[in-house]
Amino acid sequence: MPKDTRTFACTKCGAAHPRWSGRCGDCGAWNSIEEEQALSVAGPSKKSLGMAKGRAVPLTDLSVQEEAPRRALSGIGELDRVLGGGLTRASATLVGGDPGIGKSTLLLQAAAMLGRSGAKVIYVSGEEASAQVAMRARRLGLADAPVKLAAETNLRDILTTLDKEMPDVAVIDSIQTMWADHVDSAPGSVSQVRAAAHELTSFAKKRGIAVILVGHVTKEGQIAGPRVVEHMVDTVLYFEGERGHPFRILRAVKNRFGPADEIGVFEMTGAGLAEVGNPSALFLSDQEKPSPGACVFAGIEGTRPVLTEFQALVAPAPHGTPRRTVVGWDGGRLAMILAVLEARCGIPFTGLDVYLNVAGGIRVSEPAADLAVACALLSAREDALMPPHCVVFGELSLSGALRPAVQTENRLNEAGRLGFKQAIAPAGSKLGGSGLEVRAFPDLPAVAGQVFGAG
Ligand code: TYD
Ligand code: MG
Repeated sequence: MPKDTRTFACTKCGAAHPRWSGRCGDCGAWNSIEEEQALSVAGPSKKSLGMAKGRAVPLTDLSVQEEAPRRALSGIGELDRVLGGGLTRASATLVGGDPGIGKSTLLLQAAAMLGRSGAKVIYVSGEEASAQVAMRARRLGLADAPVKLAAETNLRDILTTLDKEMPDVAVIDSIQTMWADHVDSAPGSVSQVRAAAHELTSFAKKRGIAVILVGHVTKEGQIAGPRVVEHMVDTVLYFEGERGHPFRILRAVKNRFGPADEIGVFEMTGAGLAEVGNPSALFLSDQEKPSPGACVFAGIEGTRPVLTEFQALVAPAPHGTPRRTVVGWDGGRLAMILAVLEARCGIPFTGLDVYLNVAGGIRVSEPAADLAVACALLSAREDALMPPHCVVFGELSLSGALRPAVQTENRLNEAGRLGFKQAIAPAGSKLGGSGLEVRAFPDLPAVAGQVFGAG
């Protein structure tokens, strides 16, 4: 029997599978696996062996100046910072996000600003006609910006256009609408999306242009999401935000040319995206009206301190398994903190529904938020307010011990600047000099006992 050489991939997370199944074992998505067409990759020809291409060079022979990536600043400070200091030539950047979050708006604004600062920019739209893009540009007050528009979905035509125009920057909106005629499957399939990303990325490298690929995060169905091409590009940015909130966060999750985990903050206005230069207090609710279950976390996002508010609600579960609902934080981590509260502090949550929310539509991923979550849970469960004007930070270990956090001074100074008076922090952190009254604790039982009188 001939060997089955077909391969399958999950459209959601890109994981490869040897056979089809109804559910992806990696990300747990249902009905997301589809057959993938193998990309033919030619091996090295005999002739090319031993030739200069791909030759290994001693590290010491490479001068850094020569190889330093050249950057193009978009002039949108929040974007340039997330990119690590502007767009790098000969690079590929992926900008992912939910449909309607504002990716096209952001990139049209960036394209216009880059054009105005002298870069040659092409904006290729596979979703909207050029006239529609132009109309949007007019609405954004960017109608006169020197940007070339193309409405095109065929990869070969796009590469021909790019080859002819030789721009400095090309925006491809979106990667899911592009199709290569040498790949048999429908646009949006894993094979098509990967083939298009592969061709555009290698074109960018070869010709020294900066390519920006837009990718919609897909919920269900047969359209491949941006995660399937994350490994091919140099930089991966996600544009996030909650519907109903005007704030949008551009988050670097991978960056070969700068720090990952940096965020940029924008506000969606009637005239496009406006930068929010100082977001530290943006996500706080009114501190003059405290409520049980609310706890302010002094966090660090990328290089900047950002204060966010965790809100917990604990209610008797009517029947069956109690609910654990989390918005803006990791559900697994919540389960861990509930377990630590129960095992180390003797405070059980059995028979109680637990809801945890981060105010303002931001997502927190820092481990130093553990103690703030624990305090929010304790405050909700004991129906006790947090001490007034108080920030909290610290990572929790399974033993219940608190670990010192990084950038303690930065957190405390920012809290002081925003009018906070006290802080609850892990013992062992560098705590002086901020003007806040800092209470340092070695472990969670000490916090539960001394702050909430619980446990
Ligand atoms: P868009 O950039 O088209 O989203 P994406 O490319 O990520 O799918 O943004 C669409 C939303 O943004 C739409 O709901 C309208 C809103 N919007 C504004 O609020 N103000 C504006 O100036 C623009 C252009 C869009
Ligand atoms: Mg769009």
